[in-house]
Amino acid sequence: MTLQGKVALVTGAANGIGRGITERLLADGANIVALDVAAGALATLAEELGVGADRLEPVEADVSNRDDVRRAVARAVERFDGLDILCSNAGIADADPFLEISDASWRRIIDVNLTGAFHCIQEAARVMALKGKGAIVVTTSTNGFYVESNLAAYNASKGGVDALIRAAAIDLAWHGIRVNGIAPSMVKTRAAFITSDPVGSIEYLKRVPMGRFADPSEIAAAVAFLASDEASYVTGQTIILDGGLTLGIDMPMPQAPLPGSAKDSA
Ligand SMILES: NC(=O)c1ccc[n+]([C@@H]2O[C@H](COP(=O)([O-])OP(=O)(O)OC[C@H]3O[C@@H](n4cnc5c(N)ncnc54)[C@H](O)[C@@H]3O)[C@@H](O)[C@H]2O)c1
Repeated sequence: MTLQGKVALVTGAANGIGRGITERLLADGANIVALDVAAGALATLAEELGVGADRLEPVEADVSNRDDVRRAVARAVERFDGLDILCSNAGIADADPFLEISDASWRRIIDVNLTGAFHCIQEAARVMALKGKGAIVVTTSTNGFYVESNLAAYNASKGGVDALIRAAAIDLAWHGIRVNGIAPSMVKTRAAFITSDPVGSIEYLKRVPMGRFADPSEIAAAVAFLASDEASYVTGQTIILDGGLTLGIDMPMPQAPLPGSAKDSA
């Protein structure tokens, strides 16, 4: 119970990775303010995770809206008397060929993924700074540096999030607040539709040395570490959780001795 008595705000908590983070932080002892736009999924979250209203406070809110985020942070203070941890995780994507990306789609993705993370970090840090302590973990993506086709707005938003993590880490260190990131590649969630596509998933997994997709619980384990005092001297870092996807271009070498190699000359 490394987070016993801590209070965490998790955004995008009702589904996928955010739900996995919420489940893990609850198991580690934290009380949770669960923020999401999805009112229906949020309403049943506590019951589905087997906790009462004393441990989980749902807040219907949109991270792209400053007032919504401020309200969620205030709720943490009212309900649980403070805020120790922020998991800024809510995110969206559209898949479009570059020449067909609309202004509306571009703006919405930047508003939610990048500006939303900025709102959450700033509002949470204002409260954390009063105590001189806090831990922030932002969900970015391997797409921030290892871009994929037809996802330009998403790639760009996550590149911005990567820079935001490092910038916030430098600026907030003086307030005792650590800011780190997690960068998954493909995690089994509804948003990562390829994970449930029988043909697409086989093709995708050819690029993944570990040969499988991540489970949200595996991403949540890294969040739990970065959010805990076990990571007390870690800031501005992003843990990549990709089963080896971005280690290199996987070009299998022939099994036979290479010309001029040790085996060749033996
Ligand atoms: N699934 C993956 O393979 C993968 C890989 C890398 C990074 N990520 C990132 O992980 C995060 C979570 O993705 P996921 O796969 O769990 O997606 P998901 O769609 O399963 O869950 C996202 C949740 O965020 C909520 N949300 C969306 N817009 C919101 C907003 N404006 N305000 C508040 N809540 C909002 C949704 O309602 C949903 O509950 C995102 O930032 C995503 O970019 C996902």
